Amino acid sequence: MAIAQRFGAGHRMLVSGGAGFVPSHLVDALLGRGCEVVAIDNFVTGSRDNIAHLAAEPRFTLIEADLGAGLPPLPGRFDAILHMASPASPTDFQKMPVEILKIGSIGTMALLDRALADAARFLMASTSEAYGDPLVHPQPESYWGNVNPIGVRSVYDESKRFSEAATMAYHRFHGLDTAIVRIFNTYGPRMRPGDGRAIPTFISQALRGAPVTVHGTGTQTRSITYVDDLVRGILLLLDSTEAGPINCGTEHELSMLELARLIVRLAGSKSSIELVERAADDPERRRPDLTLARTRLGYVPRVDPEEGLRRTIEFFAG
Ligand SMILES: NC(=O)c1ccc[n+]([C@@H]2O[C@H](COP(=O)([O-])OP(=O)(O)OC[C@H]3O[C@@H](n4cnc5c(N)ncnc54)[C@H](O)[C@@H]3O)[C@@H](O)[C@H]2O)c1
Repeated sequence: MAIAQRFGAGHRMLVSGGAGFVPSHLVDALLGRGCEVVAIDNFVTGSRDNIAHLAAEPRFTLIEADLGAGLPPLPGRFDAILHMASPASPTDFQKMPVEILKIGSIGTMALLDRALADAARFLMASTSEAYGDPLVHPQPESYWGNVNPIGVRSVYDESKRFSEAATMAYHRFHGLDTAIVRIFNTYGPRMRPGDGRAIPTFISQALRGAPVTVHGTGTQTRSITYVDDLVRGILLLLDSTEAGPINCGTEHELSMLELARLIVRLAGSKSSIELVERAADDPERRRPDLTLARTRLGYVPRVDPEEGLRRTIEFFAG
């Protein structure tokens, strides 16, 4: 199975949230293919450092704007729109719930309308959180999920579920060329040390020699994906004609305790591991069923957790 490259030199791409962790790697990959890239970001969780190396790149433009208030005027036509903007850390769910709802509703609708006007392919970054605290394991795309619609995580989960519904409505009703990727926990260089997600938190604590704080009993699991693998998966989906949703991640399922111990070892740290109170509605187990990604896209993750975590620790250590 080989998906032919559909977007490259001569194509103009719009990447929402382009200064964020995952999206900035995607911007690099698209530029590497010869695309012209326009990134929109309001830096609510992104960083200028993530795109600083592109300052002299003539095929890259940054527009600073809040997509939660709609789309600013953007001249020219786009061949594809990749909707990656949204705060994504559980800490953000508490700090900016309304902003998350706006980017997932107003922002998504504005970008869908623009894709329709431009006859562009529209790719939406959804999430494993669409499955909530899943009762089916591993999670296939056919599973509808178990989401608490009024819980503390609901602003994110429901905003992404709304974005999926809107994307499918434009696909079915308007015949728009769309794709939905459900991203599972992804890590790598350019994550913010204080963003509240487990891997950057554990690495920062381990590098400081501070206790590594694991929520609850630490038996809850996540399947972690190195950012390069995710970017490859997203590009395969973009190049395909698949509408999805398609899971993208790895089957490297680790408990939080295993993850904390691995990070302490790889960082050569003497940090102890401390169990702290667990957040509400924190999913118990999470692992993607990757059958669709494998069979429809030929997606195979390549970076194992030790290698990916080593590279991430190196980045955090500076
Ligand atoms: N990293 C993961 O594990 C993961 C998992 C599932 C889904 N995702 C999705 O992938 C995308 C990128 O996630 P990330 O981990 O790189 O997070 P990130 O916070 O680093 O990137 C998101 C970017 O969107 C920008 N943004 C947010 N609201 C905006 C607005 N209203 N207007 C303009 N820009 C705005 C932020 O400033 C940031 O640069 C998000 O949509 C997220 O929901 C990520």
